[in-house]
Amino acid sequence: MITLGGQILQSEPEGYATIRPGIVEIADGRIVGLGFGQVSNKVDHGGPDALICPGFIDTHLHLPQFDSIGAAGMRLLPWLQDVIFPAEQRWNDLDFARSMIDRVTGQCLGVGTTGICAYATVDHDATIAALTAFGEIGFRGVIGQVMMDRDAPPPLLRPSEQLVDQVARTLDRFPPDGPMAAAVTPRFALSCSEALLEDAGRLAASHDAIIQTHLAETVAECDAVGKGFGGRDYVDVYDGAGLLTPRSILGHGIHLDSPSQDRLARRGSLIAHCPTANSFLGSGTMNRHSHRSHGIPVTLGSDIGAGFERSMVRVGRAMIEAAMRISIDAGHGVDDRTRIPSAAEAWHQITAGNADALGWDDVGRIAVGRRADLLVIRPDIAWLDSRQPLAALMFAWDDRWIETTILGGRVRFCSA
Ligand code: GUN
Ligand code: ZN
Repeated sequence: MITLGGQILQSEPEGYATIRPGIVEIADGRIVGLGFGQVSNKVDHGGPDALICPGFIDTHLHLPQFDSIGAAGMRLLPWLQDVIFPAEQRWNDLDFARSMIDRVTGQCLGVGTTGICAYATVDHDATIAALTAFGEIGFRGVIGQVMMDRDAPPPLLRPSEQLVDQVARTLDRFPPDGPMAAAVTPRFALSCSEALLEDAGRLAASHDAIIQTHLAETVAECDAVGKGFGGRDYVDVYDGAGLLTPRSILGHGIHLDSPSQDRLARRGSLIAHCPTANSFLGSGTMNRHSHRSHGIPVTLGSDIGAGFERSMVRVGRAMIEAAMRISIDAGHGVDDRTRIPSAAEAWHQITAGNADALGWDDVGRIAVGRRADLLVIRPDIAWLDSRQPLAALMFAWDDRWIETTILGGRVRFCSA
């Protein structure tokens, strides 16, 4: 049994959160006890001034891009060709991939990320290595072998049949209902022939798998999709290939008109909002409020390495800043509570909100029976005295406050 003591954060949709002193008991990987009241210093981790909160969930990131953060001054398509494809090619060397995966798991633990929806590369063995390593440590989530059969350097391209065969084997080995599962991951329309997109759609349907891809991140990309697919619009291309399901996570989704938003809402597909990446590549500012008003579930992701923040708390903050920018530009100001999420809402998004959108009912909240994917955080500011404690934490955030990261009941990172 492990005991955590501290201020226990429980958040509800739309930013209603409670912070109360108490104790969390962990056994066999799960939360087995939760009691509120005075906290003594006799707990295994934490103490009266620590925050106990669910681990953070990052719904869009690229594992091979952690060393590529900060390649500034480029737009998406040249950045992919000049920076990202050479970096991903390095994962064709399995020893290199393994050593990088090892570093990346450490970095995720250090920033409190316990759940991921991640892209590996087109390399099958490297993808298996990533699924194995993240799974053994106890992360929750999905990782996909990237599917590409055009418009990248030859070492990153594979024939469609080979990709389908390899991804099918990955799905059998890491099934969709497991804690660390394979995902079907066609990179985006410009990297895939129509046949490959359709194959990916069929494969996902036959396994009920999560689908990950990118959608409408830049205007140039949308124009190129129109040219390459006979003038069809982006959402129609994915819909025709069977890629828009309630288990599809569509990265970015910035440049979408209202009919496309309605269609996405009808399909139940998720948009993974990646605010740091959107500003870094100058792709545009995604309108989260508009998507949600259309009925599209919106998650949040770091999109490492276009995104430059590994910490989901900082990505949450960027989500607030992006919404503020949209509101100010529209003449509504910074006090527009309907369009600008509060810090409590952002905190909910990176924990229970992302979990709920993905249908992961075993994580994201502190409750008896849930997986013990938990963080002990020890801020060095007087956050409990603040009028808005979660806003104080989010805007003053320092990764060094993360004292303990627990995955499936095991302490996997401890700085104390
Ligand atoms: N679109 C296709 N591939 C990528 C990628 O790796 N990163 C981002 N930000 N957008 C993409
Ligand atoms: Zn991405």
